[in-house]
Amino acid sequence: MSDMRTLGEFIVEKQHECPSVSGELSSLLSSIRLAAKIVNREINKAGLVDIIGASGNENAQGEQQQKLDVYANEKFKAAMAARDQVCGVGSEEDDDVVIFSEKHGPNAKYVILIDPLDGSSNIDVNVSVGTIFSIYRRVSPLGQLATMEDFLQPGNKQVAAGYIIYGSSTMLVYTTGNGVHGFTYDPSIGVFFLSHENITILNKGSIYSINEGNYITFPKGIKQYLKYCQENKPEDNRPYTSRYIGSLVADFHRNMLKGGIYLYPSTATYPSGKLRLLYECNPMSFIMEQAGGKASDGKQRILDIKPIALHQRVPFFVGTTDMVKKIEEFLERNSD
Ligand code: AHG
Ligand code: MN
Ligand code: MN
Repeated sequence: MSDMRTLGEFIVEKQHECPSVSGELSSLLSSIRLAAKIVNREINKAGLVDIIGASGNENAQGEQQQKLDVYANEKFKAAMAARDQVCGVGSEEDDDVVIFSEKHGPNAKYVILIDPLDGSSNIDVNVSVGTIFSIYRRVSPLGQLATMEDFLQPGNKQVAAGYIIYGSSTMLVYTTGNGVHGFTYDPSIGVFFLSHENITILNKGSIYSINEGNYITFPKGIKQYLKYCQENKPEDNRPYTSRYIGSLVADFHRNMLKGGIYLYPSTATYPSGKLRLLYECNPMSFIMEQAGGKASDGKQRILDIKPIALHQRVPFFVGTTDMVKKIEEFLERNSD
């Protein structure tokens, strides 16, 4: 290992370097790190203990909850509740936001929005899953309970965002608006080490990731774009490559490191796209822009959308800037 800096040390180092990162934000990131280790431990045991499969319940959006969805949701919320920095949590797995009214809740500065377990249909088959988080400074006055207004802020107001990928190795990747940094977990000593400092996405990409099973009901512009990828070659003169895991975190992580685009357009089942603005699109868009890429709903920058509902969904196109721009062109030229 070339760099012996740990996530904990790096957070403190950055806190001194950039005034936007306060001590409180640093300890909030530390509690995410702790919950990530706990969830990672459980995911690694899937198959041995009774943690795979459906929980028998549905979440706020009528989707089957997996046992690990419920477990991860509880662990991340408990980690937030145990510290003093968070006044409320919005989770993909809960109908409504959870406002912390006890102890330091009313005096805490941050709200957090979270997709505790992303790609949960992949748990049972040993394929990478993740956690996505997004942090905002509250807009309601300190000393009171957090309000909906604190959660429904546009993505451009995020102070930090990140994800954990539970893959062939476990990584935590985050940004506080000063670049994107990745840390790989060493389970033998329970420490995240800095392994990917200042991640940047390539200017040219050759990977496209989309659930092509929905092809028939894609907008015309998306169909045309897919044809374009199949019939053309990117600059290195090899054909485009199609890769789709079905865990946003894993598809995004690969595309950010190798250059590519992830697409979830509107479909018959999901007329506004499937991915959720607050838990999935905003944090991933913040990270992608910080890595030099682009994120769009096909027409506008994801981070400039003013949310109107907690579980709102939007079409999502994220990755290499040129590829996302091309999608926007195709959608504009081929409006249905
Ligand atoms: P989640 O498990 O948090 O509900 O998210 C699943 C999302 C995303 O991770 C993935 O890329 C996408 O849904 C897959 O959807 P399809 O199965 O429709 O392709
Ligand atoms: Mn998800
Ligand atoms: Mn999820």
